[in-house]
Amino acid sequence: MTDISNLKTIAVIGAGQMGGGIAQVAAQAGYTVKVYDAFPGAADKCRALHRKLMDRAVEKGKATRADADAALARISFTADLESLKGSDWAIEAVVEDFAVKADLFRKLAAILPDTNAVLATNTSSISITQIAAALPKDHQPRVVGMHFFNPVPVMALVEVIKGLQTDDAVVARTVALAEKMGKTPLNANDRPGFVSNRVLMPLINEAFYALMEGVAEPEAIDGIMKLGCNFPMGPLRLADFIGLDTCVHIMDVLADGLNNDRYRACPLLKQYVAAGRFGDKSGRGVYEYPAK
Ligand code: CAA
Ligand code: NAD
Repeated sequence: MTDISNLKTIAVIGAGQMGGGIAQVAAQAGYTVKVYDAFPGAADKCRALHRKLMDRAVEKGKATRADADAALARISFTADLESLKGSDWAIEAVVEDFAVKADLFRKLAAILPDTNAVLATNTSSISITQIAAALPKDHQPRVVGMHFFNPVPVMALVEVIKGLQTDDAVVARTVALAEKMGKTPLNANDRPGFVSNRVLMPLINEAFYALMEGVAEPEAIDGIMKLGCNFPMGPLRLADFIGLDTCVHIMDVLADGLNNDRYRACPLLKQYVAAGRFGDKSGRGVYEYPAK
């Protein structure tokens, strides 16, 4: 069954950069959206960003004031996981850590016991098969990868990943939902990093090696890749934008999953993370972002 016409309420778990963007595009597509985050302050930050982006859409004539206000009104925030009860679909977007995601999926399967409710993860790299395996057998077919890109309101792609246990109908419904959200879904199989981060992350890691070895200054490394390869952002700037902590987590999954040390995170990248330099979201990564 590829039908998503009965889908009314989407639960988004994690109100960070990705969860916030996913909540926004889901609300703009007409869904009621409940956003859960465990940490104080995340909801307020997310709500403020939604207002800013929707105001900008109105200013630029991309949405009417009435449509923007209606979309904002469809989004609610909660710090109580239980209040996601009754949602028809869940999209998880918390930190890139298997243990955290597995724990959440176990709780979600209990809170949303109807096995028609899809449990999707926005993971960048973690095995969908492994996340599904954390659940009782009858819940495993409803686990799927629904990988959005940053910034979600702007980026066209959703990478749809089928785990070994994922039901084909769940994949088809995920494709349909991504299209309803205005995105272009493309399918990938469940291998470490899928397609996107199998290809992108080693490139970013290599840019850190170039920086560590003094091949060039950060601005030159980024400038060369922007002007020479027509990248919208250089790889170091993009790493800050993604989050250096997330980049290290993805490299760990690639190195362990592909059983190959050439995917180990560059020591300089790991050192920045150890120093709390996570990129845009913490105010400093390779570059400084004083406003944050
Ligand atoms: N959230 C929402 N919208 C944003 C945004 C954000 N964080 N940042 C920029 N935008 C919007 C702006 O509002 C603007 O929209 P309008 O045209 O409607 O006003 C539009 O993007 C363009 O913004 P700007 O003119 O300010 O800046 P820009 O032209 O330099 O574009 C960019 C900004 C879209 C981020 C562009 O630099 C870009 O495409 N960068 C590369 C992004 C990328 O590669 N993303 C994928 C990362 S990998 C990933 O996501 C997967 C993973 O698992 C790690
Ligand atoms: P982020 O750090 O901006 O946000 C993560 C959010 O999850 C935070 O608000 C945090 O408070 C919350 N959180 C952490 N643990 C939680 C828990 N146990 N319960 C509830 N909330 C919890 O991270 P992000 O960049 O939004 O990434 C989220 C996910 O999306 C990760 O799996 C990441 O790999 C993936 N992803 C990231 C990008 C990117 O470019 N940043 C792109 C695609 C996919």
